Amino acid sequence: MINEYINSHKQRFLDELFELLRIPSVSADPTYKNDVINTADAVASSLKKAGADKVEICATEGYPIVYAEKMIDASKPTILVYGHYDVQPADPLDLWHSKPFDPVVKNDKIYARGACDDKGQMFMHVKAFEAMIQTNTLPCNVKFMIEGEEEVGSTNLGIFVNKNVEKLKADIILISDTGIIANDIPSITVGLRGLSYVEVEVTGPNRDLHSGLYGGAVANPINILCQMIAQLKNDKNHITIPGFYDDVEILSGEERAEMAKAPFNLDAYKKALDLSDIHGEEGYSTNERTSIRPTLDVNGIWGGYTGEGAKTVIASKAYAKISMRLVPHQNSDKITALFADYFSKIAPPSVKVKVTPHHGGEPVVTPSNSIAYKAASMAMEATFGKKPVPVRSGGSIPIVAMFKSVLGLDSVLLGFGLDSDAIHSPNESYGLFNFYKGIETIPHFYQNFSELYKK
Ligand code: BES
Ligand code: MN
Ligand code: MN
Repeated sequence: MINEYINSHKQRFLDELFELLRIPSVSADPTYKNDVINTADAVASSLKKAGADKVEICATEGYPIVYAEKMIDASKPTILVYGHYDVQPADPLDLWHSKPFDPVVKNDKIYARGACDDKGQMFMHVKAFEAMIQTNTLPCNVKFMIEGEEEVGSTNLGIFVNKNVEKLKADIILISDTGIIANDIPSITVGLRGLSYVEVEVTGPNRDLHSGLYGGAVANPINILCQMIAQLKNDKNHITIPGFYDDVEILSGEERAEMAKAPFNLDAYKKALDLSDIHGEEGYSTNERTSIRPTLDVNGIWGGYTGEGAKTVIASKAYAKISMRLVPHQNSDKITALFADYFSKIAPPSVKVKVTPHHGGEPVVTPSNSIAYKAASMAMEATFGKKPVPVRSGGSIPIVAMFKSVLGLDSVLLGFGLDSDAIHSPNESYGLFNFYKGIETIPHFYQNFSELYKK
Protein backbone atom coordinates (compact mmCIF):
# COMPACT_ATOMS: atom_id res chain seq x y z
CA MET A 1 0.00 0.00 0.00
CA ILE A 2 2.81 2.41 0.85
CA ASN A 3 4.55 1.28 -2.34
CA GLU A 4 1.45 2.20 -4.31
CA TYR A 5 1.48 5.64 -2.76
CA ILE A 6 5.17 6.11 -3.61
CA ASN A 7 4.64 4.83 -7.16
CA SER A 8 1.72 7.08 -7.88
CA HIS A 9 3.55 10.19 -6.65
CA LYS A 10 6.97 9.52 -8.18
CA GLN A 11 6.94 12.40 -10.61
CA ARG A 12 5.83 14.95 -8.01
CA PHE A 13 8.56 13.77 -5.59
CA LEU A 14 11.11 14.40 -8.31
CA ASP A 15 9.64 17.81 -9.22
CA GLU A 16 9.80 18.84 -5.58
CA LEU A 17 13.41 17.71 -5.27
CA PHE A 18 14.23 19.78 -8.37
CA GLU A 19 12.83 22.88 -6.61
CA LEU A 20 15.31 22.35 -3.80
CA LEU A 21 18.19 21.64 -6.17
CA ARG A 22 17.56 24.93 -7.97
CA ILE A 23 18.52 26.94 -4.89
CA PRO A 24 22.33 27.30 -4.76
CA SER A 25 22.84 26.65 -1.04
CA VAL A 26 26.64 26.85 -1.05
CA SER A 27 27.56 27.26 2.62
CA ALA A 28 31.26 27.97 1.99
CA ASP A 29 30.68 31.07 -0.14
CA PRO A 30 29.03 34.15 1.44
CA THR A 31 27.74 35.24 -2.01
CA TYR A 32 25.02 32.62 -1.57
CA LYS A 33 23.93 33.67 1.90
CA ASN A 34 20.30 34.40 0.95
CA ASP A 35 20.03 31.22 -1.06
CA VAL A 36 21.22 29.12 1.86
CA ILE A 37 18.64 30.77 4.12
CA ASN A 38 15.91 30.30 1.50
CA THR A 39 16.78 26.62 1.29
CA ALA A 40 16.21 26.27 5.04
CA ASP A 41 12.76 27.82 4.55
CA ALA A 42 12.02 25.46 1.67
CA VAL A 43 13.06 22.41 3.71
CA ALA A 44 10.92 23.59 6.63
CA SER A 45 7.82 23.99 4.47
CA SER A 46 8.39 20.60 2.84
CA LEU A 47 8.40 19.00 6.30
CA LYS A 48 5.28 20.91 7.29
CA LYS A 49 3.50 19.82 4.09
CA ALA A 50 4.63 16.23 4.58
CA GLY A 51 2.86 16.13 7.94
CA ALA A 52 5.17 17.29 10.74
CA ASP A 53 3.29 18.82 13.70
CA LYS A 54 5.99 21.10 14.85
CA VAL A 55 8.42 22.77 12.46
CA GLU A 56 11.04 25.25 13.59
CA ILE A 57 13.76 27.20 11.85
CA CYS A 58 16.35 27.51 14.59
CA ALA A 59 18.71 30.44 14.21
CA THR A 60 22.41 29.92 14.93
CA GLU A 61 25.51 32.10 14.67
CA GLY A 62 25.67 30.75 11.11
CA TYR A 63 22.99 29.12 8.97
CA PRO A 64 19.72 27.95 10.52
CA ILE A 65 18.92 24.41 11.58
CA VAL A 66 15.55 23.06 10.50
CA TYR A 67 13.91 21.06 13.26
CA ALA A 68 10.63 19.19 12.92
CA GLU A 69 8.78 16.45 14.74
CA LYS A 70 5.79 14.16 14.69
CA MET A 71 5.19 12.61 18.08
CA ILE A 72 2.49 9.96 17.95
CA ASP A 73 2.93 8.02 21.20
CA ALA A 74 5.41 8.53 24.04
CA SER A 75 5.59 4.78 24.63
CA LYS A 76 6.90 4.21 21.10
CA PRO A 77 10.52 4.68 20.01
CA THR A 78 11.76 7.91 18.45
CA ILE A 79 13.90 8.13 15.32
CA LEU A 80 15.97 11.30 14.85
CA VAL A 81 16.69 11.93 11.17
CA TYR A 82 19.75 14.05 10.38
CA GLY A 83 20.70 15.48 6.99
CA HIS A 84 22.11 18.64 5.43
CA TYR A 85 20.65 21.13 2.94
CA ASP A 86 23.91 22.92 2.17
CA VAL A 87 26.10 21.91 -0.77
CA GLN A 88 29.70 22.22 -1.89
CA PRO A 89 30.72 25.00 -4.30
CA ALA A 90 29.99 24.04 -7.90
CA ASP A 91 33.29 25.06 -9.47
CA PRO A 92 35.07 24.41 -11.74
CA LEU A 93 31.95 25.47 -13.65
CA ASP A 94 33.29 24.90 -17.16
CA LEU A 95 33.53 21.15 -16.54
CA TRP A 96 29.77 20.75 -16.01
CA HIS A 97 27.77 19.34 -18.94
CA SER A 98 24.63 21.06 -17.66
CA LYS A 99 24.20 23.90 -15.19
CA PRO A 100 24.84 22.81 -11.56
CA PHE A 101 21.71 24.51 -10.23
CA ASP A 102 19.48 23.66 -13.15
CA PRO A 103 18.78 19.96 -12.49
CA VAL A 104 18.18 17.59 -15.41
CA VAL A 105 17.56 13.86 -15.74
CA LYS A 106 19.88 12.13 -18.20
CA ASN A 107 20.46 8.37 -18.47
CA ASP A 108 18.21 7.83 -15.45
CA LYS A 109 20.32 10.08 -13.25
CA ILE A 110 19.62 13.48 -11.72
CA TYR A 111 22.47 15.89 -12.49
CA ALA A 112 22.88 18.84 -10.12
CA ARG A 113 25.07 20.05 -7.26
CA GLY A 114 23.58 18.41 -4.16
CA ALA A 115 21.68 15.76 -6.15
CA CYS A 116 23.26 13.06 -3.99
CA ASP A 117 25.12 15.06 -1.30
CA ASP A 118 22.81 15.62 0.43
CA LYS A 119 19.61 17.20 -0.86
CA GLY A 120 18.57 14.11 -2.83
CA GLN A 121 19.24 11.77 0.07
CA MET A 122 17.81 14.09 2.73
CA PHE A 123 14.66 14.61 0.68
CA MET A 124 14.08 10.82 0.48
CA HIS A 125 13.38 11.06 4.22
CA VAL A 126 10.85 13.84 3.76
CA LYS A 127 9.01 11.85 1.11
CA ALA A 128 9.20 8.53 3.00
CA PHE A 129 7.71 10.39 5.99
CA GLU A 130 4.95 11.84 3.81
CA ALA A 131 4.19 8.37 2.44
CA MET A 132 3.93 6.88 5.95
CA ILE A 133 1.66 9.70 7.10
CA GLN A 134 -0.59 9.47 4.06
CA THR A 135 -0.95 5.70 4.33
CA ASN A 136 -1.34 5.75 8.10
CA THR A 137 1.71 3.56 8.61
CA LEU A 138 4.03 5.73 10.67
CA PRO A 139 4.93 3.26 13.44
CA CYS A 140 6.89 5.51 15.82
CA ASN A 141 7.82 9.08 16.71
CA VAL A 142 10.13 11.01 14.43
CA LYS A 143 12.26 14.11 14.75
CA PHE A 144 14.13 15.81 11.91
CA MET A 145 17.23 17.93 12.24
CA ILE A 146 18.47 19.25 8.90
CA GLU A 147 21.45 21.61 8.99
CA GLY A 148 23.04 24.06 6.57
CA GLU A 149 26.71 23.92 7.55
CA GLU A 150 27.78 20.29 7.14
CA GLU A 151 30.11 21.11 4.26
CA VAL A 152 31.89 23.70 6.40
CA GLY A 153 32.36 21.60 9.51
CA SER A 154 29.04 21.72 11.47
CA THR A 155 30.44 24.00 14.18
CA ASN A 156 27.08 25.64 14.98
CA LEU A 157 25.27 22.32 14.89
CA GLY A 158 27.70 21.08 17.54
CA ILE A 159 26.71 24.01 19.75
CA PHE A 160 23.00 23.41 19.03
CA VAL A 161 23.24 19.72 19.95
CA ASN A 162 25.00 20.55 23.23
CA LYS A 163 22.28 23.08 24.12
CA ASN A 164 19.32 20.92 23.12
CA VAL A 165 19.96 17.50 24.62
CA GLU A 166 16.37 17.21 25.90
CA LYS A 167 14.75 18.36 22.65
CA LEU A 168 16.81 15.87 20.67
CA LYS A 169 16.01 12.91 22.91
CA ALA A 170 15.59 9.87 20.68
CA ASP A 171 16.41 6.19 20.48
CA ILE A 172 18.41 6.15 17.26
CA ILE A 173 19.77 8.54 14.67
CA LEU A 174 19.09 7.79 11.02
CA ILE A 175 21.23 9.39 8.30
CA SER A 176 21.34 9.04 4.52
CA ASP A 177 24.53 10.85 3.53
CA THR A 178 26.78 7.95 2.53
CA GLY A 179 26.78 5.33 -0.21
CA ILE A 180 26.39 1.71 -1.21
CA ILE A 181 28.96 -0.45 -3.04
CA ALA A 182 26.79 -0.81 -6.16
CA ASN A 183 23.10 -0.91 -7.03
CA ASP A 184 23.21 -4.71 -6.90
CA ILE A 185 25.56 -4.81 -3.86
CA PRO A 186 23.81 -2.97 -1.01
CA SER A 187 25.94 -1.97 1.96
CA ILE A 188 25.61 -0.13 5.25
CA THR A 189 28.31 2.27 6.41
CA VAL A 190 29.63 1.40 9.87
CA GLY A 191 32.56 3.79 10.09
CA LEU A 192 33.52 7.32 9.12
CA ARG A 193 36.93 8.93 9.27
CA GLY A 194 37.68 12.05 11.26
CA LEU A 195 39.33 15.13 9.86
CA SER A 196 42.05 17.60 10.73
CA TYR A 197 42.28 20.51 8.28
CA VAL A 198 44.99 23.15 8.24
CA GLU A 199 46.16 26.00 6.06
CA VAL A 200 49.88 26.75 5.86
CA GLU A 201 51.67 29.91 4.81
CA VAL A 202 55.38 30.01 4.00
CA THR A 203 57.02 33.43 3.77
CA GLY A 204 60.39 34.05 2.15
CA PRO A 205 61.51 37.60 1.32
CA ASN A 206 59.32 40.51 2.45
CA ARG A 207 58.28 41.31 -1.15
CA ASP A 208 58.12 39.64 -4.55
CA LEU A 209 61.57 39.71 -6.17
CA HIS A 210 63.04 39.71 -9.67
CA SER A 211 64.03 36.07 -10.11
CA GLY A 212 67.13 36.98 -12.07
CA LEU A 213 68.52 39.51 -9.62
CA TYR A 214 67.81 37.40 -6.52
CA GLY A 215 67.25 33.85 -7.86
CA GLY A 216 69.66 31.35 -6.31
CA ALA A 217 70.48 33.48 -3.30
CA VAL A 218 67.22 33.62 -1.30
CA ALA A 219 64.61 31.06 -0.32
CA ASN A 220 61.80 30.70 -2.84
CA PRO A 221 58.80 29.96 -0.58
CA ILE A 222 57.07 27.91 -3.29
CA ASN A 223 60.08 25.63 -3.73
CA ILE A 224 60.46 25.35 0.05
CA LEU A 225 56.77 24.60 0.56
CA CYS A 226 56.99 21.78 -2.00
CA GLN A 227 60.05 20.34 -0.27
CA MET A 228 58.31 20.52 3.09
CA ILE A 229 55.18 18.83 1.78
CA ALA A 230 57.31 16.11 0.19
CA GLN A 231 58.84 15.40 3.60
CA LEU A 232 55.43 14.65 5.14
CA LYS A 233 55.48 11.12 3.66
CA ASN A 234 58.29 8.61 3.18
CA ASP A 235 58.89 6.24 0.28
CA LYS A 236 56.41 3.75 1.74
CA ASN A 237 53.77 6.48 1.82
CA HIS A 238 53.75 6.45 5.61
CA ILE A 239 53.16 9.85 7.18
CA THR A 240 56.35 11.04 8.87
CA ILE A 241 54.87 13.38 11.50
CA PRO A 242 56.22 12.06 14.83
CA GLY A 243 53.43 10.54 16.94
CA PHE A 244 50.93 10.62 14.05
CA TYR A 245 50.17 6.88 14.27
CA ASP A 246 50.43 6.57 18.07
CA ASP A 247 46.70 6.26 18.71
CA VAL A 248 45.69 4.51 15.48
CA GLU A 249 43.50 1.49 16.13
CA ILE A 250 45.16 -1.65 14.82
CA LEU A 251 42.75 -4.19 13.40
CA SER A 252 43.29 -7.90 13.96
CA GLY A 253 44.04 -10.27 11.10
CA GLU A 254 40.50 -11.66 11.40
CA GLU A 255 38.94 -8.22 11.20
CA ARG A 256 40.99 -7.40 8.12
CA ALA A 257 40.09 -10.74 6.53
CA GLU A 258 36.41 -10.02 7.21
CA MET A 259 36.75 -6.59 5.60
CA ALA A 260 38.46 -8.07 2.56
CA LYS A 261 35.29 -10.05 1.82
CA ALA A 262 33.51 -6.90 0.64
CA PRO A 263 33.36 -7.07 -3.15
CA PHE A 264 35.99 -4.90 -4.86
CA ASN A 265 37.31 -4.91 -8.42
CA LEU A 266 40.68 -3.18 -8.75
CA ASP A 267 40.61 -3.10 -12.55
CA ALA A 268 37.18 -1.47 -12.60
CA TYR A 269 38.38 1.00 -9.94
CA LYS A 270 41.41 2.02 -12.03
CA LYS A 271 39.34 2.17 -15.19
CA ALA A 272 36.68 4.40 -13.62
CA LEU A 273 39.39 6.93 -12.70
CA ASP A 274 41.52 6.41 -15.82
CA LEU A 275 44.55 5.42 -13.74
CA SER A 276 47.26 3.04 -14.86
CA ASP A 277 48.17 2.31 -11.26
CA ILE A 278 46.99 3.00 -7.74
CA HIS A 279 49.08 4.70 -5.04
CA GLY A 280 49.05 4.45 -1.28
CA GLU A 281 50.47 3.29 2.00
CA GLU A 282 52.57 0.14 1.73
CA GLY A 283 51.09 -2.95 3.35
CA TYR A 284 47.41 -2.05 2.95
CA SER A 285 44.75 -2.77 0.35
CA THR A 286 42.82 -0.03 -1.44
CA ASN A 287 39.79 -0.54 0.80
CA GLU A 288 41.96 -0.40 3.91
CA ARG A 289 43.73 2.73 2.71
CA THR A 290 40.38 4.52 2.42
CA SER A 291 38.81 3.29 5.64
CA ILE A 292 40.97 2.00 8.49
CA ARG A 293 44.12 4.01 7.73
CA PRO A 294 44.69 7.73 8.18
CA THR A 295 45.88 9.90 5.28
CA LEU A 296 47.35 13.28 4.50
CA ASP A 297 46.51 15.17 1.32
CA VAL A 298 47.18 18.60 -0.09
CA ASN A 299 43.80 19.98 -1.14
CA GLY A 300 45.07 23.18 -2.68
CA ILE A 301 48.36 24.95 -3.26
CA TRP A 302 49.04 28.43 -4.59
CA GLY A 303 51.46 31.30 -4.80
CA GLY A 304 53.48 33.26 -7.34
CA TYR A 305 52.38 34.03 -10.85
CA THR A 306 49.72 31.83 -12.47
CA GLY A 307 48.31 34.21 -15.10
CA GLU A 308 48.85 34.26 -18.88
CA GLY A 309 52.37 34.03 -20.22
CA ALA A 310 55.50 34.16 -18.07
CA LYS A 311 56.56 36.43 -15.24
CA THR A 312 60.04 36.02 -13.79
CA VAL A 313 59.37 36.42 -10.10
CA ILE A 314 60.19 34.92 -6.74
CA ALA A 315 57.04 35.22 -4.67
CA SER A 316 57.11 36.44 -1.12
CA LYS A 317 54.59 33.84 0.03
CA ALA A 318 53.32 30.36 -0.78
CA TYR A 319 50.23 28.64 0.63
CA ALA A 320 48.63 25.23 0.89
CA LYS A 321 45.51 23.68 2.36
CA ILE A 322 46.23 20.27 3.82
CA SER A 323 43.79 17.76 5.26
CA MET A 324 44.34 14.62 7.27
CA ARG A 325 41.68 11.93 7.50
CA LEU A 326 41.70 10.24 10.87
CA VAL A 327 40.71 6.83 12.18
CA PRO A 328 39.76 5.57 15.64
CA HIS A 329 41.25 6.53 18.19
CA GLN A 330 43.05 9.54 16.78
CA ASN A 331 41.94 12.96 17.99
CA SER A 332 41.69 15.88 15.59
CA ASP A 333 43.05 18.57 17.97
CA LYS A 334 45.99 16.40 18.90
CA ILE A 335 46.80 15.63 15.26
CA THR A 336 46.51 19.30 14.30
CA ALA A 337 49.01 20.18 17.06
CA LEU A 338 51.41 17.41 15.96
CA PHE A 339 51.23 18.69 12.40
CA ALA A 340 51.83 22.31 13.38
CA ASP A 341 54.86 21.36 15.50
CA TYR A 342 56.44 19.21 12.86
CA PHE A 343 55.74 21.57 9.99
CA SER A 344 57.42 24.42 11.84
CA LYS A 345 60.32 22.18 12.76
CA ILE A 346 61.11 21.09 9.19
CA ALA A 347 61.10 24.66 7.89
CA PRO A 348 64.59 25.93 7.06
CA PRO A 349 65.69 29.14 8.83
CA SER A 350 65.42 31.00 5.51
CA VAL A 351 61.58 31.08 5.71
CA LYS A 352 58.83 31.79 8.23
CA VAL A 353 55.92 29.39 8.61
CA LYS A 354 52.36 29.94 9.84
CA VAL A 355 49.89 27.10 10.40
CA THR A 356 46.20 27.96 10.78
CA PRO A 357 43.80 25.19 11.88
CA HIS A 358 40.39 24.93 10.20
CA HIS A 359 37.46 22.77 11.29
CA GLY A 360 37.99 19.21 12.41
CA GLY A 361 35.95 16.17 13.24
CA GLU A 362 36.34 12.92 15.10
CA PRO A 363 36.23 9.43 13.57
CA VAL A 364 33.46 6.96 14.46
CA VAL A 365 32.65 3.31 14.19
CA THR A 366 29.00 2.36 14.63
CA PRO A 367 27.95 -1.08 15.88
CA SER A 368 27.02 -3.75 13.34
CA ASN A 369 25.50 -6.07 15.95
CA SER A 370 22.81 -3.71 17.24
CA ILE A 371 19.04 -3.81 16.84
CA ALA A 372 19.25 -0.65 14.74
CA TYR A 373 21.80 -2.22 12.38
CA LYS A 374 19.59 -5.30 12.11
CA ALA A 375 16.56 -3.13 11.31
CA ALA A 376 18.54 -1.39 8.55
CA SER A 377 19.94 -4.64 7.22
CA MET A 378 16.48 -6.23 7.04
CA ALA A 379 15.10 -3.09 5.39
CA MET A 380 17.70 -3.23 2.62
CA GLU A 381 17.31 -6.97 2.25
CA ALA A 382 13.58 -6.45 1.70
CA THR A 383 14.01 -3.81 -1.01
CA PHE A 384 17.25 -4.91 -2.72
CA GLY A 385 16.64 -8.64 -2.36
CA LYS A 386 20.14 -9.02 -0.92
CA LYS A 387 21.63 -8.73 2.54
CA PRO A 388 23.79 -5.57 2.76
CA VAL A 389 27.51 -5.72 3.55
CA PRO A 390 28.86 -3.62 6.45
CA VAL A 391 31.63 -1.26 5.25
CA ARG A 392 33.75 1.47 6.76
CA SER A 393 33.82 4.60 4.65
CA GLY A 394 36.63 7.06 4.08
CA GLY A 395 34.45 10.19 4.26
CA SER A 396 33.59 12.27 7.30
CA ILE A 397 30.36 13.51 8.90
CA PRO A 398 31.70 15.38 11.92
CA ILE A 399 28.44 15.46 13.88
CA VAL A 400 28.12 11.67 14.08
CA ALA A 401 30.84 11.35 16.75
CA MET A 402 29.14 14.17 18.69
CA PHE A 403 25.77 12.41 18.53
CA LYS A 404 27.46 9.59 20.38
CA SER A 405 29.44 11.65 22.87
CA VAL A 406 26.79 14.31 23.64
CA LEU A 407 23.46 12.51 23.12
CA GLY A 408 24.74 8.98 23.78
CA LEU A 409 23.15 7.87 20.50
CA ASP A 410 24.41 5.61 17.77
CA SER A 411 23.73 6.49 14.15
CA VAL A 412 22.58 4.23 11.35
CA LEU A 413 24.28 5.34 8.13
CA LEU A 414 21.72 4.19 5.60
CA GLY A 415 23.02 5.92 2.48
CA PHE A 416 22.17 5.17 -1.15
CA GLY A 417 24.81 7.06 -3.16
CA LEU A 418 27.41 5.55 -5.47
CA ASP A 419 31.10 6.45 -5.84
CA SER A 420 30.28 7.30 -9.47
CA ASP A 421 27.86 10.03 -8.29
CA ALA A 422 30.87 12.39 -8.25
CA ILE A 423 29.92 14.24 -5.06
CA HIS A 424 31.92 17.48 -4.58
CA SER A 425 32.94 17.22 -8.27
CA PRO A 426 31.55 18.67 -11.48
CA ASN A 427 28.54 16.72 -12.82
CA GLU A 428 27.40 15.41 -9.47
CA SER A 429 24.54 13.00 -10.02
CA TYR A 430 22.11 10.75 -8.20
CA GLY A 431 20.37 7.77 -9.76
CA LEU A 432 16.59 7.76 -9.99
CA PHE A 433 16.87 4.12 -8.90
CA ASN A 434 18.71 5.22 -5.76
CA PHE A 435 16.33 8.08 -4.98
CA TYR A 436 13.24 5.88 -5.18
CA LYS A 437 14.95 2.89 -3.56
CA GLY A 438 15.77 5.10 -0.60
CA ILE A 439 12.17 6.30 -0.27
CA GLU A 440 11.02 2.68 -0.39
CA THR A 441 13.62 1.37 2.10
CA ILE A 442 13.25 4.02 4.82
CA PRO A 443 9.71 2.99 5.93
CA HIS A 444 10.98 -0.59 6.29
CA PHE A 445 13.60 0.69 8.71
CA TYR A 446 10.96 2.53 10.73
CA GLN A 447 8.82 -0.61 10.86
CA ASN A 448 11.66 -3.00 11.75
CA PHE A 449 13.14 -0.71 14.34
CA SER A 450 9.77 -0.12 16.01
CA GLU A 451 9.15 -3.87 16.21
CA LEU A 452 12.61 -4.87 17.41
CA TYR A 453 13.35 -2.01 19.81
CA LYS A 454 12.22 -2.43 23.40
CA LYS A 455 12.09 0.89 25.20
N1 BES B 1 28.25 13.15 2.75
C1 BES B 1 29.63 13.51 2.86
C2 BES B 1 30.47 12.49 3.56
C3 BES B 1 30.47 11.09 3.00
C4 BES B 1 30.25 10.86 1.65
C5 BES B 1 30.72 10.05 3.83
C6 BES B 1 30.25 9.57 1.16
C7 BES B 1 30.74 8.76 3.34
C8 BES B 1 30.49 8.51 2.00
C9 BES B 1 29.71 14.84 3.59
O1 BES B 1 28.81 15.79 3.08
C10 BES B 1 31.08 15.44 3.41
O2 BES B 1 31.42 15.75 2.30
N2 BES B 1 31.82 15.61 4.49
C11 BES B 1 33.07 16.30 4.45
C12 BES B 1 33.47 16.72 5.83
C13 BES B 1 33.31 18.16 6.14
C14 BES B 1 33.93 18.51 7.47
C15 BES B 1 33.69 19.12 5.07
C16 BES B 1 34.16 15.41 3.93
O3 BES B 1 34.12 14.18 4.15
O4 BES B 1 35.06 15.95 3.30
MN1 MN C 1 26.94 15.00 2.83
MN1 MN D 1 29.74 16.61 1.21
